[in-house]
Amino acid sequence: MSIPKLSGGLPWLGHALEFHRNPVDFLSRGRERYGEIFSFPLAGQRVNVLTEPRGNAAFFRAPDDQLSSREAYQFTVPMFGKGVVYDVPPETLDEQIGFLLPALRDARMQTYAQSIEEETEERCAEWGDEGEIELAEFMNELTVFNACRCLIGREFRRRTSAEFARSYHDLECGVNLVAFFNPRIPVPKNLRRDRGRANIVRLISRVLKERRQKPAADEDFVDTLMAARYADGRALSDDEIAGMLVVSIFAGQHTSAVMSAWTGILLLQHPQYLERVRAEQSLLPAGQPLTLASLRSLVVLEQCIKEAERMFPPIVMLMRMIQRDFTYEGHVMPAGDLVMVAPAVTHRLPDVFRDPDRYDPDRFGPGREEDRRTQFSLIGFGGGKHRCVGSGFAYQQIKTIWTVLLRRFDLQLAPGEYVPDYSTWVVGPRRPCMLRYRRRRRADAIAKAS
Ligand code: HEM
Repeated sequence: MSIPKLSGGLPWLGHALEFHRNPVDFLSRGRERYGEIFSFPLAGQRVNVLTEPRGNAAFFRAPDDQLSSREAYQFTVPMFGKGVVYDVPPETLDEQIGFLLPALRDARMQTYAQSIEEETEERCAEWGDEGEIELAEFMNELTVFNACRCLIGREFRRRTSAEFARSYHDLECGVNLVAFFNPRIPVPKNLRRDRGRANIVRLISRVLKERRQKPAADEDFVDTLMAARYADGRALSDDEIAGMLVVSIFAGQHTSAVMSAWTGILLLQHPQYLERVRAEQSLLPAGQPLTLASLRSLVVLEQCIKEAERMFPPIVMLMRMIQRDFTYEGHVMPAGDLVMVAPAVTHRLPDVFRDPDRYDPDRFGPGREEDRRTQFSLIGFGGGKHRCVGSGFAYQQIKTIWTVLLRRFDLQLAPGEYVPDYSTWVVGPRRPCMLRYRRRRRADAIAKAS
């Protein structure tokens, strides 16, 4: 069966410009016109798009040697480094993802809750009694510092994080359309990316050298990577350790920043939920540091984060390169094509999520659980074998940040339109997003009483 193809587009470029301008609108229009599966030309490449949970299931369940993320995400290789993640065969990638897991287990997560709480408190202590901040920028900075502190350690955060943040910002330039098609072309953004990475490796190598001379007081993620061994007994080189740290920070930082920003924006736009989230905070033991267990009791806040994930997934589409012909419902997609699923499109299907354009966190509550009725319907963190390993960390971080902000401040959004900005790969709210704050008095008592 042939796959309907979106007509129009420019010679060779195909639909690249429209797609680049607003991929979600573009893909939604494709779906409206052709239904659950269609294709379009993009810069010399055919892209097949699957938009429904059944198609998502086929995509996420396909083996790596048929649908390859490695081939689709080659633009990350100069960012993460040689011999890391999308530069290695699938078996080695599995081993490397395995090295990240100890950093995401409960015992470590317990310490992160406190670190993130302290970090957020420290940042907010710098604010006046009342004023305005740019929310997206604030979340971006805070999550870089949280990532530095949780993954590379308190000492690194204290001494080096400002320099790290600058280099990391340079590294992020590697996510651009030119790099997607050829990451080695020396355009200014790619050169900046390379300078950023070189500096990050230098900073991390310094940490590794120090650790070898004098181990840290408590074992952390850097120690875990230093102690890790491949199946053949080989240790990771300094460059690989730096690469793995960059992978974990890169995968989780910007994505968490924008999901956190959207969680707050949507909450502040819906006072009835804001009130419920504030009321729920009385479940937290007063005057005690946040713990994994206390954060788990914040069920309404969790549903509000899920609703932000549904309405504004930070990664609006996921891709694979087809290595062997891929058949879905009688449609054959040939090797050499790209195939794509789109969380931002699936999450707005009315037969999957009732009244999908409405903010309704209760859809995830008992009795409804709309995300559980159909497999692979909520895919903001992907699915199947390559599902995000950091979703627990991300939810915990967002819960902690908003718990601190709501405990300390009365908050209001400046009037304006809050819409997605598609100019970056990780899609956040268009800036500026001005947040007005007024410090609460006797914050703990108020949080307890509310
Ligand atoms: C709100 C925050 C986050 C979002 C929205 C997010 C989203 C995603 C998505 C959609 C995928 C699947 C990619 C694909 O199949 O092509 C993924 C994979 C991954 N994520 Fe996350 N992520 C977040 C936070 C994190 C954090 C905090 C970490 C690490 C500490 C992390 C580490 C990873 C890794 C290593 C993978 C690759 C897994 C594999 O290929 O087996 N992510 N993430």
